[in-house]
Amino acid sequence: MAYKDLRDYLAALEIRGKLHHVKKEVDPDWEVAAVIRRIFQRIPPARRPAVMFEHIKGHRMPLVAGILGASPEVYALALETTVDQIADKWAHAQTHPIPPVRVGTGPVKDVILTGDRIDATALPLCRWTRDQDPAPYVTGPCVISNDPETGERNMGTYRLMLKGPRRFGLFLSTTWRDMYAHIMKNEQQGKPTPCAVVIGCDPPVPLTSVARIRGDELGVAGALRGAPLEVVRCETNDLEVPAHAEIVIEGYVPAGVREHEGPFGEYTGYMGSSGPSFVIEVTAITHRTNPIYQAFFSQMPPSESSCIRGTGRDVALLKHLKRDLRLPVRDVHLLEAGGGAAFLAISLRREHPALPQRAMWAAWAFDPSFSKWVVVVDEDIDVRDYFQVLWAMSWHVQPERDLYVNRGTAGVALDPSVAEEDVNQLERKTVLSSKVGVDATRKHTFPARSVPPQEDLDRVDAQWADYGLE
Ligand SMILES: Cc1cc2nc3c(=O)[nH]c(=O)nc-3n(C[C@H](O)[C@H](O)[C@H](O)COP(=O)(O)O)c2cc1C
Repeated sequence: MAYKDLRDYLAALEIRGKLHHVKKEVDPDWEVAAVIRRIFQRIPPARRPAVMFEHIKGHRMPLVAGILGASPEVYALALETTVDQIADKWAHAQTHPIPPVRVGTGPVKDVILTGDRIDATALPLCRWTRDQDPAPYVTGPCVISNDPETGERNMGTYRLMLKGPRRFGLFLSTTWRDMYAHIMKNEQQGKPTPCAVVIGCDPPVPLTSVARIRGDELGVAGALRGAPLEVVRCETNDLEVPAHAEIVIEGYVPAGVREHEGPFGEYTGYMGSSGPSFVIEVTAITHRTNPIYQAFFSQMPPSESSCIRGTGRDVALLKHLKRDLRLPVRDVHLLEAGGGAAFLAISLRREHPALPQRAMWAAWAFDPSFSKWVVVVDEDIDVRDYFQVLWAMSWHVQPERDLYVNRGTAGVALDPSVAEEDVNQLERKTVLSSKVGVDATRKHTFPARSVPPQEDLDRVDAQWADYGLE
């Protein structure tokens, strides 16, 4: 049954021992980031919990992090499924969206703050890369806006820099972001872009926010829940937001205004660029009684961000290749070392010699802001296993024949390698990138594998205890 809200989901994590409570008071300016970094470094994914910091110094709200992407197992729990069913669940949801239903009110309206009562500094925002980030950031926002021409809604996750009690910097890393088009269309008319920032909700909402969904993310979120999401109208604009959200920040992006934003410690493992960016003027904050603040843990992979970014893109790309283009693709995976963005592996049945190349081009055309490396392997290779992918690259590839380098393409968002040598690496400017495709499928019949026959291994397994190894 669908989680009703964030609290319902936290209770489910709790029951499975996947939510750790930190009771000690922690400092949002350095300690939260350092504790979570250590959790990701020291606890292997199978045992890694999400965390609730109950006491954040100087704030009244607790903070949860890692609750969607502490590990693939936690991600599966967020979707009420198992790791092996994640792709199927997403495939069904994207093709069978359930539109949200409008209700009169909901818990997100427990407290309504407008005018001078608005104070975004009361949120327990953290500094994630101390001495490098210029301000505390909202790392897990689901930003909703509408296309002014078609009325189509978009929801995406875009980092927000705290600039004051009623002001945020908004970072859109590429001009392909749907919200970018909304702002541009409004700016041409000299109009602001109304927006609403949702923080803390039942998991399908943030998970669709970070995925490359075509169409209404809230409809796909409804399908992932198996029930329509209840939405309410904002207080100060006409946008709809989940009725059971913990916190909603309402506001608008003023036309023609750009202010300095960043840098920010990014998912690549490096500081991300800074420069002129959009701002959000806050017109209201509404929240539940005793709200829970949710953050995504990002920066150097592995992180929650690389887990949810990679999976959100995997499932959207898999649907595109398999269902829209009908390619014989078995699986796709954006490897976590590449932040769930830069390194893509695709497995397929090589029915035609040109198929690996077609899959590469299809991936690049689908979204040029990821997949700097695309490695295509045969369907017997597990793309989620680094070792198998590197094995195929080692022995199935003749570099002169099987490597394709495309120059002058759009870059992977925030890739620090694209900056020219004499340019400040943190300067925001559009630089073209290149992309590499590696056809690591077998092009001819290969010799037999040099491993014992399966039946010998099965016999050994059956009498494993006799060897005294465990
Ligand atoms: C933790 C996290 C943070 C992100 N931050 C940003 C960001 O600051 N700016 C941005 O443009 N995209 C960011 N993204 C990627 C977008 O949220 C993602 O590509 C989404 O699909 C964009 O939605 P859109 O295509 O509807 O614009 C982030 C993704 C994750 C997982």
